[in-house]
Amino acid sequence: MIEQQLWHPVTASHQVRHEPVACSLLGQPLVLWREHTHDGARVHAWADRCPHRGARLSLGRVLIGVHGARLECPYHGWQFGAGDGRCQHIPAAPDFVPPPAHRTTVFEAREQHGLIWVRLQAPSHALSAEFADPPAFAQSEDTTWRTVLCGPYELNTSAPRLVENFLDLSHFGFVHEGWLGERSHAQVQTGAVDEGTGLAGLVVREARAWQPRAYAGVEEGAWIAYRYDVPHPFAAILRKDATHGDPVSNAIALFIRPDGHELCTAWFAMATQGDPVTDQELIEFQDAVFAQDRPVVESQLPRALPVGRTAPITEVHGPADRVSSAYRRYLNRLGIALGTC
Ligand code: FES
Ligand code: FE
Repeated sequence: MIEQQLWHPVTASHQVRHEPVACSLLGQPLVLWREHTHDGARVHAWADRCPHRGARLSLGRVLIGVHGARLECPYHGWQFGAGDGRCQHIPAAPDFVPPPAHRTTVFEAREQHGLIWVRLQAPSHALSAEFADPPAFAQSEDTTWRTVLCGPYELNTSAPRLVENFLDLSHFGFVHEGWLGERSHAQVQTGAVDEGTGLAGLVVREARAWQPRAYAGVEEGAWIAYRYDVPHPFAAILRKDATHGDPVSNAIALFIRPDGHELCTAWFAMATQGDPVTDQELIEFQDAVFAQDRPVVESQLPRALPVGRTAPITEVHGPADRVSSAYRRYLNRLGIALGTC
């Protein structure tokens, strides 16, 4: 299953400090925990199940000692080493040297954009180049940009429905009237869609829509040019190009953890340059915009996105839906089954 071979965000980095934290990805219970080292704090993602008698490791605790960091099981106190998840110590039999099979299941984990990313399976050869890393979001590495993480937003719909909503400019005048759009300026320009080949994602350039209040801190309306990147089936990045000397540039990345066919958890990483509003105001603006999307997106049926995988659910399309059609073709090309029908 390709979904197992992709990087997914599982929780915000700041949620995992000194104690182990339980979460779940694609039905796999995980324990996340941090090993504080001299050069930082490495995060680990393991199966949340002790190989001894199946207790949840997330109920245990992190031990720091001369042998490095270990995770201690809450039941019999077996200790598992940070590096490879091998059992290092069994308190009830302290002279016993645990064999290699006494180990937890270790998954790959990374931190990027304020989120912890996990991959459950090594990628097949075809995938390794396109999805070697979590999706890039260049602004978050550039110190002249300020980044703020919004969310998590738990949603009763599929990840693809939410991505498609994010790519859709023509709902602005209705769902976000007075905020991101106006009925009287409902026309949109879908821009140039580059669908890519193979596993490469979409790029949409020069999409345009009218916005009465394009971002927090701005009061007057303007035609805004957008660039969309869809580098991953469950992630999309929107860049609002600052046109004609506008001092503010914004980029918003949507990162989603698919929690099933009809459930997902989303975060927005917002990057801004030259925007005077505070982090809290940015978060409140995004929360307010998302609260406008939520009832409509959760009302869409079926919750899985119809991409033509299983007949006969169909939806009809208009000329302003070119980007959404391209996104559906992308999911099909990748063979994404989760959250599609
Ligand atoms: Fe984990 Fe026994 S169940 S140490
Ligand atoms: Fe919206």
